[in-house]
Amino acid sequence: MSRNWINPEEFSIYSFLLMDEYIVQSIANKKDPEFRKYLAIVLKQHSAILWYFQNKAPETAAYFSELVTQSTDTPDHKMLSIAENHVIDELDWAIVYVFPEYMEQLKYIKYWDESHLLSMTDFRGKAVLDVGAGSGRLTFAAAKLADYVYACEPVDRLRRFMREKIKKNSIKNVYVVDGQIEDLPFRDNSFDITMSGHTIGDDYDVEYAELSRVTKPAGFIIDCPGEDDRKNELKPEMVRLGFEYSRYRSNSGGDVYRYIKQLK
Ligand SMILES: C[S@@+](CC[C@H](N)C(=O)[O-])C[C@H]1O[C@@H](n2cnc3c(N)ncnc32)[C@H](O)[C@@H]1O
Repeated sequence: MSRNWINPEEFSIYSFLLMDEYIVQSIANKKDPEFRKYLAIVLKQHSAILWYFQNKAPETAAYFSELVTQSTDTPDHKMLSIAENHVIDELDWAIVYVFPEYMEQLKYIKYWDESHLLSMTDFRGKAVLDVGAGSGRLTFAAAKLADYVYACEPVDRLRRFMREKIKKNSIKNVYVVDGQIEDLPFRDNSFDITMSGHTIGDDYDVEYAELSRVTKPAGFIIDCPGEDDRKNELKPEMVRLGFEYSRYRSNSGGDVYRYIKQLK
């Protein structure tokens, strides 16, 4: 479903050639028939993108071959343009990941106030991990107080964006690494605070187990979303996992829930 984050006409279909393996896997898993129909048109017309998808995530190769083979559409120029815009629009979340300067303009990042994170616990002198760090919303806020912050992020263009920010601002205590929440590249009991925003939720139990593994005894796990104008609901899965929560009314009128759990 499109989030209306971008104007699809501003982006080339070749943006897909910048996408990381897990994004290609997500594209292969999208079930919506209309999306699949338009994706087939796009891949049939742009064989370089098809080749890229099949080689970037080889387990998807058979799926994409079949998708293209089954498509009987022979699109004219107008239909191709509609198909490209539809696919780009549906994958707006992935487009902003590979164009982080657009991601930084999204309201949830641009209008977020870092006090919503820094008031959750004492970050001073702490070893901190940000999982699914994105463009570094939480990372750079925590780094102002923490001893150091590891920003773990699977999208290489986002890692590059954070590294450029570190260099530009001469930041000395942020380290950027590749990795996914299900399999974090850190030893057990490494961090005083392990945090994330908009990353937990595909499989709460697996993710929580991994976040707990890398967090020290008596350390904290935090989930701190960005600015939001929607009336969000409490996540029952986080309550079930023993997180405490607090709700605040955001500047744009939404309800935002933050979660924190101290390990034993
Ligand atoms: C909506 S963005 C949020 C970015 C940042 N945490 C924030 O709140 O501003 C989600 C981020 O999680 C990353 N991500 C997606 N799947 C992930 C996974 N399985 N493990 C770790 N990070 C993931 C994405 O690449 C993206 O940078």
